[in-house]
Amino acid sequence: MSHRSHGAAFYPRTMPVKIAPSLLAADFARLADEVAGVESHVDLLHVDVMDGHFVPNLTFGMPVIASLRATTELYFDCHLMVSNPISLFGPLAEAGANLVTVHIEVHPDPTRAASAARDAGLDFGLVLSPPTPFDAVVPYVELCDLLLVMSVNPGFGGQAFVPEVLPKVEAARKFIDSEGLRADIEIDGGITPGNAPLARAAGADVIVAGTAVFGDPDPVAAVERLRAAADGDE
Ligand code: DX5
Ligand code: ZN
Repeated sequence: MSHRSHGAAFYPRTMPVKIAPSLLAADFARLADEVAGVESHVDLLHVDVMDGHFVPNLTFGMPVIASLRATTELYFDCHLMVSNPISLFGPLAEAGANLVTVHIEVHPDPTRAASAARDAGLDFGLVLSPPTPFDAVVPYVELCDLLLVMSVNPGFGGQAFVPEVLPKVEAARKFIDSEGLRADIEIDGGITPGNAPLARAAGADVIVAGTAVFGDPDPVAAVERLRAAADGDE
């Protein structure tokens, strides 16, 4: 039950960029090996849960997450692309999830979702799809450990980065800093070493990358390229 100790205090909050490989681009027949291969080089694991309803795609749920939990101590950042996220909080916590992010498009007032996540022992975050303005989350950022700004439309890996979301990352950075809030900003979708510096300069703390990590023949080298691109070669 080691995951039970992974409460908010465990969430890494150092200044250097945090890299979160997205399991969606891993080889699903070798998930534990894929995670073990990058574990000591990354900061958290991004787990895309899709229900075939909020988005057309289906990925994985509690049994897969529980099986992976038995193989790694990584912090599980579960991005819930589902129509009924609250019903999953208890089972996800039981399976070993650490944090759940909920789309603001699903719960425009996420107050109940945030308290349900806390009650389940989970850290909590909100997600904005590309068309959704930052204003939609402003009253609720104070409830968040993580604010996820999507840089592709949710549903599939391997899409092209949408640079139009960068001003939203900047707005989030300014708001979080000026209000003294704790939320980290995460960016997700189409991230490469080419655009990671833009995301970082706009204010992202956490960079999710699926294809750029697990689609590379050397995922560890790919992680290090992302880190170097985001934070320089020092
Ligand atoms: C898309 C998912 C992303 C996806 C990113 O709906 O939320 O996390 O895995 O994959 P890449 O990095 O390939 O765009
Ligand atoms: Zn995601």
